[in-house]
Amino acid sequence: MKSRYSAAKNVFVDSIDIDDYIELNSSVTAYQQLQHSMEKPLKMILLFGRPGTGKSILLNRIQEKLKYQKEIYYFDTPAPTEKEFFQKLFKVLTEKDLPKNTEVNFSALIDFCKNLRGKREIIILLDEAQMYGAEMMEKIRLLSDTRAVKFVVSLHKTEDEDLIAKEHFKSRIWEVIELKNATNEDQTAYVHKKLLKKNLFEIANSIKAKDMKLIHKFTNGNYRECNKLMFTIFEICEYYDENEPSKINYSRIPQKIIEMAALKLGYIHV
Ligand SMILES: Nc1ncnc2c1ncn2[C@@H]1O[C@H](COP(=O)(O)OP(=O)(O)OP(=O)(O)O)[C@@H](O)[C@H]1O
Ligand SMILES: [Mg+2]
Repeated sequence: MKSRYSAAKNVFVDSIDIDDYIELNSSVTAYQQLQHSMEKPLKMILLFGRPGTGKSILLNRIQEKLKYQKEIYYFDTPAPTEKEFFQKLFKVLTEKDLPKNTEVNFSALIDFCKNLRGKREIIILLDEAQMYGAEMMEKIRLLSDTRAVKFVVSLHKTEDEDLIAKEHFKSRIWEVIELKNATNEDQTAYVHKKLLKKNLFEIANSIKAKDMKLIHKFTNGNYRECNKLMFTIFEICEYYDENEPSKINYSRIPQKIIEMAALKLGYIHV
């Protein structure tokens, strides 16, 4: 028989599925900030935060929510070449495919955008923007200067990239929205709601406040790390359930299993 923990484990496979979006205090705040900023006559908005804090899922959510009211597009990762990026942009702006064997003429694209001003307002959500080079970012800025296109630039903040964010972007007048690691409260809601969404009520109940405190400590409130830890916890539970069920307590996840998972992932050492 398949263990009840198999389904629980799969709940925490890292993915950006918009149907799995959960309203958490921090994500609701960031969503509202982002929506509010998008209403202002800003040209660029910066969304940043450490890897795994929920930037991509938030951008997907906002696109999904506003797509019938606004011209809003999500660009997941930078195109492999500048040429392809501008082809994609050309298609979005002109609503036509670029004729074969031609390249986008940047100054013509700028003129085209100037003509759109006041007629259309296009919002482009640029995810993984730390991968765009400085030259590309400059072109993106020039496009936004036409005021026909607004960009939400999402950037993950690591030690080095924090510098980029400061120097390259801070000189422009941007609105900055930052996603932080989750509080214990948000992370608890995240874990429980994810399980409840899949009707895993008993398992959700078996994770107590004390367990969440430990999980929060190990993962620092990072959603991606939380996914990894939860996956590993349920993987261990699954193993015991199938092989040594006497070691499993369905009403309470043994603390030892949380520690075993943390050990396996290197959050703690023997
Ligand atoms: N509000 C939320 N609802 C549901 N899942 C969430 C939420 N916030 C974060 N997650 C989950 O956490 C994980 C990490 O989120 P996401 O990939 O959006 O982070 P990111 O900030 O884009 O990271 P990176 O900088 O590495 O791209 C994903 O599995 C995502 O589904
Ligand atoms: Mg992302």
